[in-house]
Amino acid sequence: MEKKNTVLSLVQPSGNLTIGNYLGAMKNFVDLQDEYDCYFGVADLHSITVPQVPKDLRRRTKEVVALYLAIGLDPEKVSVFVQSHVEEHLKLYWVLNSISYMGQLSRMTQFKDKSQKNEENLNAALFTYPTLMAADILLYNSDYVPVGEDQRQHLELARDLADRFNHRYSDTFQVPEPLIIKSTSKIMSLRNPDAKMSKSDVDVNASIYILDPPEVILKKVKGAVTDSLANFDYNDEQKGLRNLIDIYCAFEKVSPEEVVEKYKGESYAKFKEDLAQIIITEMSQIQEKYNEFISNTQLLDTILENGRDRARNKAYRMIDKVYRKVGFYQLGKK
Ligand code: AMP
Ligand code: TRP
Repeated sequence: MEKKNTVLSLVQPSGNLTIGNYLGAMKNFVDLQDEYDCYFGVADLHSITVPQVPKDLRRRTKEVVALYLAIGLDPEKVSVFVQSHVEEHLKLYWVLNSISYMGQLSRMTQFKDKSQKNEENLNAALFTYPTLMAADILLYNSDYVPVGEDQRQHLELARDLADRFNHRYSDTFQVPEPLIIKSTSKIMSLRNPDAKMSKSDVDVNASIYILDPPEVILKKVKGAVTDSLANFDYNDEQKGLRNLIDIYCAFEKVSPEEVVEKYKGESYAKFKEDLAQIIITEMSQIQEKYNEFISNTQLLDTILENGRDRARNKAYRMIDKVYRKVGFYQLGKK
């Protein structure tokens, strides 16, 4: 049998997941699970780079797992795991730190943004966050990493670190490719079409959360910022409307041209109502399954135990190899 390529991605349990997370990343995970050897994790180690309330972090970690299952990830096919359960991530992180350059890390736009927002808590982990992300990826020899546009620069760093290690020691790591679906790679805020929709946005009306009830989704879509041109079109000047059309296309699997054709001459209000219904239908299905999983801690734990074991089975071999190449003395080996 031909060996399957490896796909890996993680999502941070640092807030309520939005349809940006869903369309930009998670929905694509489901499409990949049949064809690839998949590892989908919850990045709890990453999340403490900004302050977290411990009990909320624990709850949210479980919530991300339940959502993974609710959107259709099959734990028989993919390894679903929590990052802190696989200690090899931290072992590789340290080694990669030794070849990460301060200059490159300080140019990461996410670091620059987050450090501005958290000026009183400029911790070292926030700075080396992309190195940990590279460790997540390289540990499994990942071929493809499905993420949103905001992670492209971090992926570039992971590729650089793989190359650098391979050159300094010898060929060890697969150089990973980002898998970024252009049309959904950057879902924008409903309140400000120049900013990305983010689960950490303080304005709850800027994002639709996967677990929002129908009436809230309707209200948020209706309140989404558009323009006063009263011209149903898809272009760079009408950014708010363009974002809503992108969301429509992602759910309905149609092209922007088809949407424009359908709604030409219609009011924005009519389009928004239809869009809200489409989102509500898909979110309701997810929510129904989510509610079953979230109340079944025993099942979630069994899935995470299996996921951890499968992940570690691959990870420990890589660490063994890396430690040997770096020159760490290993008992019983030459
Ligand atoms: P995070 O919320 O940072 O843990 O992101 C989890 C995944 O969702 C990553 O692959 C992100 O790139 C993706 N993502 C987050 N926000 C958006 C967005 N507004 N549009 C598209 N993808 C996103
Ligand atoms: N940094 C990513 C984010 O905020 C989450 C993440 C951590 C990740 N490790 C990863 C994504 C490895 C892809 C691969 O979205």
